[in-house]
Amino acid sequence: MQTDKVIALICALRDALSARNQLEVVKLTVSRLSALTLDGRATEPLRAPPPHFESELALAISHIPDSLNAVAEALSQARPYLDWRADIGGDDSYYEKGSDVGLSFREGNLVCSLVGPANSFVFSEDLFLSLFFLKSRTLYRDHVHQASEMYFNLSGPCGFRLGDQDWVDYAGDSVIWNPPLAPHATRVYETPFLSAVSWVSDLDSVCRVVHRDDWQMIEDQL
Ligand SMILES: [Fe+2]
Repeated sequence: MQTDKVIALICALRDALSARNQLEVVKLTVSRLSALTLDGRATEPLRAPPPHFESELALAISHIPDSLNAVAEALSQARPYLDWRADIGGDDSYYEKGSDVGLSFREGNLVCSLVGPANSFVFSEDLFLSLFFLKSRTLYRDHVHQASEMYFNLSGPCGFRLGDQDWVDYAGDSVIWNPPLAPHATRVYETPFLSAVSWVSDLDSVCRVVHRDDWQMIEDQL
């Protein structure tokens, strides 16, 4: 049954995170997931990813490391029932209208909202948890939001620029905390990016792009 598979995926993410709970943002994510009644149902018709995403999504799943075997297995089982949506700058965008997110992001992102206050598989008023996918060779430009955010990177390696620090590569099975209003950017290499992302505060935040002069150069290099 589709519900069972997606619930099993949410539980697998919760269990993996509870074993990686050094950061407060992870503890909050786990405690809020644990408080949920997991009897979710899709609130809208399911949307499969566009066909050209299928092979990249499969590639990302194949790069999930052995340490996350349970998550990879749950993800494979749930995959036919996941509801993916691209942020292309429409009315339901996470970004301010007209934001300069760049072509590679617009054409290369997919979000599957698992837990949240609206359009999610499971309702929660204090937690947003989604799967976030980026195609290979995508620059997810520097941006900020009021929400306190966790990235639980399932695939890798991929690069992150946190605040004013230089780029650092993170492997699959890594956790990142983006504190409120701390700029962050992601660059994706050969392996497509797949991360479980949570917001544990200010769920109604709007994302704002923070301009950097090197975007074009990075996009040309990727
Ligand atoms: Fe973010």
